[in-house]
Amino acid sequence: MAKIKPSKGAPYARILGVGGYRPTRVVPNEVILETIDSSDEWIRSRSGIETRHWASPEETVAVMSVEASGKAIADAGIEAGQIGAVVVSTVSHFQQTPAIATEIADRLGTNKAAAFDISAGCAGFGYGLTLAKSMVVEGSAAYVLVIGVERLSDLTDLEDRATAFLFGDGAGAVVVGPSQEPAIGPTVWGSEGDKSEVIKQTVPWTDYRDGEVEKFPAITQEGQAVFRWAVFEMAKVAQQALDAAGITSDELDVFIPHQANVRIIDSMVKTLKLPEHVTVARDIRTTGNTSAASIPLAMERLLATGEAKSGDTALVIGFGAGLVYAATVVTLP
Ligand SMILES: CC(C)(COP(=O)(O)OP(=O)(O)OC[C@H]1O[C@@H](n2cnc3c(N)ncnc32)[C@H](O)[C@@H]1OP(=O)(O)O)[C@@H](O)C(=O)NCCC(=O)NCCS
Repeated sequence: MAKIKPSKGAPYARILGVGGYRPTRVVPNEVILETIDSSDEWIRSRSGIETRHWASPEETVAVMSVEASGKAIADAGIEAGQIGAVVVSTVSHFQQTPAIATEIADRLGTNKAAAFDISAGCAGFGYGLTLAKSMVVEGSAAYVLVIGVERLSDLTDLEDRATAFLFGDGAGAVVVGPSQEPAIGPTVWGSEGDKSEVIKQTVPWTDYRDGEVEKFPAITQEGQAVFRWAVFEMAKVAQQALDAAGITSDELDVFIPHQANVRIIDSMVKTLKLPEHVTVARDIRTTGNTSAASIPLAMERLLATGEAKSGDTALVIGFGAGLVYAATVVTLP
């Protein structure tokens, strides 16, 4: 049997830089009230959301991704040509093929980086981060760009009371590269396909094409079922990620959960018994739920406002449609 040379990677991986892009248009709750019977007070108190951003036709998935990635690459202090792989997590890019990652890799000026899209809903960032870490440590890429990007306004039924107020658009990106010390902990991740009905696209595209439904497909959910699952099951997963990383909540500086509902965030903080000193991301208030983009967007904002700082230890957890989830402890860039 011929001897195959093993690939050579870095000892460990870390997040080296982060960047975000929020569309120019800010949409207050008043706009949502034009199409559903609700109130600003109800939306704020039940979800925490005050405003969200909606993309213009020009703010495409590629445009938002390139903006966010440019900032992440600059923040990491590397050149685009050093990036070996581009992973784009999205559920709202409307062209099936080719993957949008290839166009983004080209526009950024990478040197023919490997590029592909993944679909893991609101856990998409954690899934991408886990792949990136493996690539850096295994040696198939020196630097990996992970992008979470959504135009959920394209997949929102503005007449659906359960979801019209929830979703927003935006892109967040990180550069993952080599490290001499562990800076991305073990990922606790999984899927529960038996609960796939609780968050999903209303109907397949083909039903719309074939005239079986009049309304363009949108994301629909059983709010209470998702809420209960997130509060009870995801707090356990978050704890498992802390345990796997060997970190106690006292040692934690920052908690960046998926921005789905401020009451879910508050409840997880309580269940995890996070100490007062832990900074908690509540970016949902002005960003809404941006699915795969929500964690890197929240991370970027905490660092930009000084609420978190480089080198802080952060617990990140994403969860959503699938159902899927991914949690890990990281050192902030
Ligand atoms: C969507 C969500 C905010 C709804 O909050 P809730 O407290 O569960 O609301 P319910 O659906 O139980 O409805 C409670 C009441 O509010 C009413 N209501 C529902 N939507 C409303 C709206 N948009 N405006 C005003 N009232 C509304 C209901 O009719 C109900 O009234 P009733 O008590 O008279 O029957 C909440 O379930 C949630 O955030 N779920 C998770 C969402 C999520 O994270 N999704 C993304 C996946 S990661």
